Amino acid sequence: MPRYILVVDQGTTGTRAVLYDNEGRIINYSYREHRQIYPRPGWVEHDPLEIWRNTVYVMKDAVKLSEIDPSDIVSVGITNQRETTIVWDKATGKPIYNAIVWQDTRTINYCKSLIEKGLSKFVHEKTGLTISTYFSASKIKWILDNIPGARDRAEHGEILFGTIDTWIIWNMTRGTRDHLTPDRGGAHVIDYSNASRTMLFDIVNHRWSIELLEKMRIPYEILPVVVPSSSRKPYGYMNKDILGEEIPIHGDLGDQQAALVGQTCFRRGEMKSTYGTGTFMLLNTGDKPVHSSKGLLTTIGYVFEGYDPVYALEGSVAISGAAIQWLRDNLRIIRDPSETEKLAGKTGEIGSGGVYFVPAFSGLYAPYWDMTARGLIIGLTRYTRIEHIVHAVLEAIAYQVRDVYEAMIKDAGIVINMLKVDGGATKNNYLMQLQANILGIPVLRPRNIETTSLGAAFAAGLGAGLWRNIDELRKLWVLDKEFKPIWSKEKREKLYSGWRSAVKRAMKWLDE
Ligand code: G3P
Repeated sequence: MPRYILVVDQGTTGTRAVLYDNEGRIINYSYREHRQIYPRPGWVEHDPLEIWRNTVYVMKDAVKLSEIDPSDIVSVGITNQRETTIVWDKATGKPIYNAIVWQDTRTINYCKSLIEKGLSKFVHEKTGLTISTYFSASKIKWILDNIPGARDRAEHGEILFGTIDTWIIWNMTRGTRDHLTPDRGGAHVIDYSNASRTMLFDIVNHRWSIELLEKMRIPYEILPVVVPSSSRKPYGYMNKDILGEEIPIHGDLGDQQAALVGQTCFRRGEMKSTYGTGTFMLLNTGDKPVHSSKGLLTTIGYVFEGYDPVYALEGSVAISGAAIQWLRDNLRIIRDPSETEKLAGKTGEIGSGGVYFVPAFSGLYAPYWDMTARGLIIGLTRYTRIEHIVHAVLEAIAYQVRDVYEAMIKDAGIVINMLKVDGGATKNNYLMQLQANILGIPVLRPRNIETTSLGAAFAAGLGAGLWRNIDELRKLWVLDKEFKPIWSKEKREKLYSGWRSAVKRAMKWLDE
């Protein structure tokens, strides 16, 4: 009898539902975008009710397209854009404010005040994070401070906080056998990987940090219960009204951690890079957190019931695929991202011909963390043509990964001998070959480049007993292509040192 896992992958631009079979193969999927709301410069919001409606729509659609019987779905797994913050009314299920998205920078002054108070070291030691608007804590505080009555209601247990996974699971499980009063809502949970991105979670002792909650005046009552990313006991059951069956939910992971799992990076020293709007690199550092001195974040990779917790070092790069979109939408020198492969290929041995492009459109994230940096193109001569600039854009994506890779080696003291890649841009063979040349290690692309949803399927299927252990999961990872480095060390280091000089010139631009 066929058995399936249904995954909801709720991302920054849209929501995808994917049906996997027990061989880890995609049966079908459905996708829907949601509105990006920009009320003021630097503010980014989503409508949580629209996200929930889209989630229901894509789940139903994926099941319909797959022509399967919902009773053959053994479990549901959730993966999500991380850090994005929702606070809602427990009785009515209505959000008291829109979701404040991870990219939103409205709390910059509050974050600066925490830094000025000397809290950076404490926050870094407890949570593994750098004080930033990126994480949930300052967003929760903003809602409690700015929505009339919110703090009082929070203290009386009338409102709840959650990241997107929490919101989806709460809505999915409303009115089910464990949660019989529909108005009371469903299971109020968050997994360890998502909790570790709130800047409120003690990643060493695995509990909410009372000190940080007190310092930021966030009441404990609004926080969800922290659960394993893969759990034998379901967090709850999906309400029968949605797909006609009560389906247990056994898996929940932040999207970047889910990609780490989907790439089966289960051993210390295994690393993946996901190329989307930005690039997110995660290195499995084993069962102990490694604190970075090189601008990387320490985060919980995943907690699977029956296994030791796994920690990761993360390097987040803000702009990578977005630079290709910029070539298309702003410069209009390509019509489709796929053209970059052919154009860059035309340059032959010359490559970018000495041109460097630093896409610091909104400053630089890891490992530089310079908000005052701005983008540049340097090294232009009369020889320079569009294809050299396109080449430099692809190189920039790969050089930024090298920057994070260098920081990871120094921080973790681990030998990294290959990089697994996923995400849309990995279809570009030229970019992947460049990546291998620039890193000097092989780059491995799996057949399924949607590894985020695969990771959530693994977590849910493992919890539900569809797969017995992580060794079985490892066998489901199928290689599509290995890109081996072909540049000499001399060429690699010479070109990389040019990149470092270009970055230096892009930095501290707004201070000049
Ligand atoms: O930390 C933010 C990250 O989780 C967002 O991922 O793919 O939804 O843009 P994505």
